[in-house]
Amino acid sequence: MKVEFAPVHIPLARRLQTAAVFQWVFSFLLLAQCCCGIFITLFFGKYWLLPVLYAVWLYFDWETPQTGGRRSKWIRNWTVWRYFKDYFPVHLIKTSDLEPSHNYLFGFHPHGILVAGAFANFCTEHTGFKELFPGFTPYLHILPLWFGCPFFRDYAMSVGLVSASKKSVSHVLNNDRGGNIAVIVIGGAEESLDAHPGNLTLSIFKRKGFIKMALKYGAHLVPVFSFGENELFKQVENPRGSWLRTLQERLQKIMGFALPVFHARGIFQYSFGLMPYRKPIHTVVGKPIPVKQNLNPTLEEIEQLHQTYLQELRTLFEEHKEKYGIPDHESLSFK
Ligand SMILES: *[C@@H]1O[C@H](CO)[C@@H](O)[C@H](O)[C@H]1NC(C)=O
Ligand SMILES: *[C@@H]1O[C@H](CO)[C@@H](O)[C@H](O)[C@H]1NC(C)=O
Repeated sequence: MKVEFAPVHIPLARRLQTAAVFQWVFSFLLLAQCCCGIFITLFFGKYWLLPVLYAVWLYFDWETPQTGGRRSKWIRNWTVWRYFKDYFPVHLIKTSDLEPSHNYLFGFHPHGILVAGAFANFCTEHTGFKELFPGFTPYLHILPLWFGCPFFRDYAMSVGLVSASKKSVSHVLNNDRGGNIAVIVIGGAEESLDAHPGNLTLSIFKRKGFIKMALKYGAHLVPVFSFGENELFKQVENPRGSWLRTLQERLQKIMGFALPVFHARGIFQYSFGLMPYRKPIHTVVGKPIPVKQNLNPTLEEIEQLHQTYLQELRTLFEEHKEKYGIPDHESLSFK
């Protein structure tokens, strides 16, 4: 294999962008494990009181990721996130005004490998969310198990991440004054296993929980399509039925999260590593589908709204695909 090295002379801004993305990939892949490791190690050293105090705090703070979390405007506005979004770069695009007296549920597609677009747009202040959607607070819902990890959970909550549990989504959507946005990556971990460059398959047919939530709270549904999300990494071939896919699906059932085997570039060379490629992400926020509150929806009503959502998602994709380099004959498939 021929290794293609990065040039020696690279402008400082680009180096900082690479560093910003490196720390983010590290946080995603290893920081939780490091935090748990440090927490356990501390118990056996002379600073054992520290983890004991933290454990007491954790006991009282356990529910916070389900009740809106604990965000820090300051951390969301860190300059490191500006370099992060400039690396790809990430763009947020609005197609319709939203009404701040309502709550909204954004369905985000596709998951990609590390959901970089959702993070940049909804967990940092550097892609213009505040200017595009004044009066709104976005909450990005992630797997609850992330919040079981000491220290890491505080960092995650500081950027506006909250749990994806029912209770947590309810908390966000059940706001009388409106102005809340629950961002849910509908395809979840399962979809990351299809995150190969060029793939347009979304795991959505069986996913109806978000429809029920929207009906229960009368939250308007907004499809969001993030062009470029699947282009950031290559993934080892894992077609359905292959041994790798079977193993991944089994592990996902047991652990709740998926393990796509991915690779892209490194820090100093472009041939292998876990750093994403510098490829643009365009996250397009669609038009809202008005939803009337319905505390006891019938199966048909749920089905109907699900169908409407799929149609609107398809329309959004079709209207914008040309601008983002998707050939005319390609379209979304749902599974
Ligand atoms: C982020 O920081 C900049 C200054 O660096 C400031 O102008 C801006 O208002 C801040 N944004 C938020 C949302 O706090
Ligand atoms: C995308 O993923 C689906 C589901 O695994 C697969 O059937 C399809 O062939 C893939 N398409 C491309 C272009 O990789």
